Parts: sequence; structure tokens; C-alpha cells
Amino acid sequence: MLEVIILAAGQGSRMQSKLPKVLHSLSGRPLIHYTLDAARAAGAHRIHVVIGCGADAVEAAVRAPDVQCHLQAEQKGTGHAVQQAIGACDSESTVLVLFGDVPLVTDATLQAVVTEAEDGIAMLSAEVEDPAGYGRVVRDEQGEFLAVVEHRDASIAQQQLREINTGVLASRANLLEDWLSRIQNHNAQSEYYLPDVLALAKEDGVAVVVVVSDSPLDTLGVNTPQQLEYLERQHQWVLAERLMAAGVFVADRARLDIRGSLRCGRDVSIDFNVLFEGNVTLGDEVTIGAHCVIRNASIETGAHIRPFTHIDGATVKAGAEIGPYARLRPGTEIGEQAKVGNFVEIKNTSLGTGAKASHLTYLGDATVGAWSNVGAGTITCNYDGANKYRTELGEGVFIGSNSTLVAPLSVASGGFVAAGSTITDDVQGDQLAVARGRQHNVDGWQRPTKTEDKP
Ligand code: UD1
Ligand code: MG
Repeated sequence: MLEVIILAAGQGSRMQSKLPKVLHSLSGRPLIHYTLDAARAAGAHRIHVVIGCGADAVEAAVRAPDVQCHLQAEQKGTGHAVQQAIGACDSESTVLVLFGDVPLVTDATLQAVVTEAEDGIAMLSAEVEDPAGYGRVVRDEQGEFLAVVEHRDASIAQQQLREINTGVLASRANLLEDWLSRIQNHNAQSEYYLPDVLALAKEDGVAVVVVVSDSPLDTLGVNTPQQLEYLERQHQWVLAERLMAAGVFVADRARLDIRGSLRCGRDVSIDFNVLFEGNVTLGDEVTIGAHCVIRNASIETGAHIRPFTHIDGATVKAGAEIGPYARLRPGTEIGEQAKVGNFVEIKNTSLGTGAKASHLTYLGDATVGAWSNVGAGTITCNYDGANKYRTELGEGVFIGSNSTLVAPLSVASGGFVAAGSTITDDVQGDQLAVARGRQHNVDGWQRPTKTEDKP
């Protein structure tokens, strides 16, 4: 049985933030969720999360049937943190230790560490360009593992070593528990260091297997805002790479952000500076223009989203055209071949097949039938300050420009509203509704003249 212990009790003081470090977000999800994913992908039967700083918030973020939290009231080091959870593990289990602030550790790597731990203890190391701050792997002349020495405890010679401890370690639970009970805090930070169990294992004659990582993602941890930004860009690079490998045309991977899940059909193209959030689906041959923000949306075959469009909680059917500068809010459904133009805001409204709202319009709580045309400057007055009401427009309705539709209201199929009207009563299908002051031209009109300026 595999049990995973995730360390997440530290404050992350270098983040200079009120939020516990493991709750900072990486492409829209808390860091700790990536570590939970990694644990599950490695085959964890049970996951133990050691919490401390911001314990309530972290506990809420990791809650799941396979997760158990353990409080480390005082942060006395990584070894002390594992001690809080080890007693809850089955003594025959293999225990894998992960850090909550190293979110992108790869599946293959974890599998290798778990496999190598079968007869004793295994750790994950990595060769890095700049080892400053990390614990160093010290080996003897034959290259055999001796110990991990923390940066602050390392001699000048040891500081030159570029093989570092990633923090990932696995061992049988009963062995680990025994070694943990024997570690001391006689070091520069007066902390109980988890990697000290490796040297104790060695002393006991147990083989320490060092798995050397071959992916830079295994070591990328988050201690500072700069590291978080770096990791975000690395991760976005990988996400964009996956999209392109699946045949999506991305204008510039450095200017694409995916915070959630994005599924794409064939021949989809995405221009630069686009942000996707939540669950987004793009059908075949969809195009997304530059500078769009698209969240929890389904954009169907051949629809075109023009630049600077904002979509949240909407469905856009096949062949529709949205934008530039359009805003679709939750509960919106745009029908096939429909058109929504610039500065149009639509909320909780369905537009039928081929319907159009081409410019400067607000449609809220409305139904617009197929092939209807909503003129520029039309507003549905859906709210009276207390309640919301619906506007129902049938098929082939024509709403002249600058109309005010006061809900509740219906205009039957074929109905016609003259430009500049304020419509408060229902309109039948064979009617023209005009609701504006009649034009009156004054003959011989004298324009006012300017009066003398007073001193
Ligand atoms: C640790 C390792 C170091 C390794 C590096 C890799 C130790 C002593 N050092 O150093 O060898 O190169 O990670 O990134 O293990 N935590 C707790 N409780 C505590 C202390 C820490 O839960 O009392 C958690 C932190 O929240 C964090 C993780 O353990 O998720 C690592 O702690 P951190 O303080 O970042 O250790 P490093 O100094 O980076
Ligand atoms: Mg760290």
C-alpha cells in the first residue's frame, strides 16, 4: 500500500503574503492541488497533509475522502513535520514524502522513487546550475551516497556541489518512523531535518537509492513571487505545447494563458493575448481573436470570436460571430449563424438562429427569436430596482435603433418597433409600434444670439 505525506505547514514567509504559500495559484488552481494530483497519479491509497500556518484554509482546500490532515502546531523542520503524520500510516505501507510547494513533480519520477524504495529508502536528487539554498547530496569517492547537508550547514567545498536534494523521499513506514525518532536538531537552524533519516539508514546498513531526476520540473519549487511567476510561465509553455501537438494553431505561446481545462477540435486558431478560464470547449475551425477572455464557455464549430471579446458562462453555436468588443455574460446562448457586434452586452438571454445585435446594445433576461434584428442602442429594461422581468421577441422581429424595451414585454413574430421608441406594451406580429414624440418643425425659427458679457 502506498501512502503519501505532503508537507504544507510552512508559512512561506518569502512570499510576503497573508495567504498560506500552498494556496497561491498556478494556472488558476492552488499549488497544493497539483501535489495532490501527483500523489494520486502515483497510486496513493491514502494522502496525509501536514498543515500548520493557515491550517483551516489549507484543510478546506484539500478536503477529500482519501485525504487526512495532521496539525504541526509549531514548525520545527521537515523531519518534525513528517513525524506528525507517520503514526497514522500503516507500518507495512510504503510512504512517499512530497512538498506542497513543489507542484509539478513528474509522474514517471515519482514511480521510480517508489519502486526503488521497496527494499529500504530512496530519495530524488537533481543536478542544477545554481544550487544555492538547497540541501546538497554528499557522496564518497566511489560515488556512494553519504548524506544530505543543508546549504547553511555546508562547508565551502560542499557548497560547490551541484547535486541537490529535491525533497522527495520514499521508504517503508516502520523504518521511516524509527529513523525519524532518532534525528536531532543540532544544526544551523535548530530544526529536525527530514533528509537526516538518509544518513541514519546508511548507518544501519540499509541501502539508500538516489534517483537522479531528468526533468527540471521536479525541482521547481515556489518560495518567492518571482519563482511562482517562473513556474507559471514554464507550466503555460507546456500547456501550449500540448495544444499545438494536438493541432491547435497558437499565434504566440508566450501570450496565451490557460487557467483550467481547454478542449479543442481540429483547425482551431488562437491569436495572441488570450486568457481561458474554467472549462472551455472550442469546436472545429473556431477562431479566437486577439485579447479575448473566455471563461466556462462552449464555442461550437466554425464560430468566430473577434478581438477584445469577453465571454463568461455562455454557449456560442456553430457559425456565430461575436465581437469585436462584445461581452457575453452567464446564461447566454447565441444561436447558429447569429451575430453579436461591438459594445453589445448580453446576459441570461438566448439569441435564435441568424439573429443579430450588431452594435451598442444591452440584452438581459430576454429571448430573441430566429432572424430577428436588434438595432443599435437598444436596451432591455429588465430591472425595476426590485425585480427582474423577461423580454420575449419572436422570430423575424425588427427592433429599430435606440429603442427601450420595458419588461415584462413581448413582441410577437414579425412585429416591428420604430426607432427611438420606448415600448411598454406588447406588440402583435402584424403591428408597427411607434412610441416617441411626433416631429414638429417650426418655420422661420430665429436662433438665439449671444448676450454681452457682464463685467
Ligand atoms: C528543503 C530541504 C532541502 C531541499 C529543499 C528542496 C530539509 C531540511 N531541507 O529545504 O534539502 O534541497 O527543501 O526544495 O528538508 N515544512 C513543514 N513544516 C516545517 C518545515 C517545513 O510543513 O516545520 C514544509 C514547508 O511548508 C514546505 C516543505 O516542508 O512545503 C519544505 O520546507 P522549506 O522550508 O521550504 O525547506 P527548504 O529550506 O526549501
Ligand atoms: Mg522550500
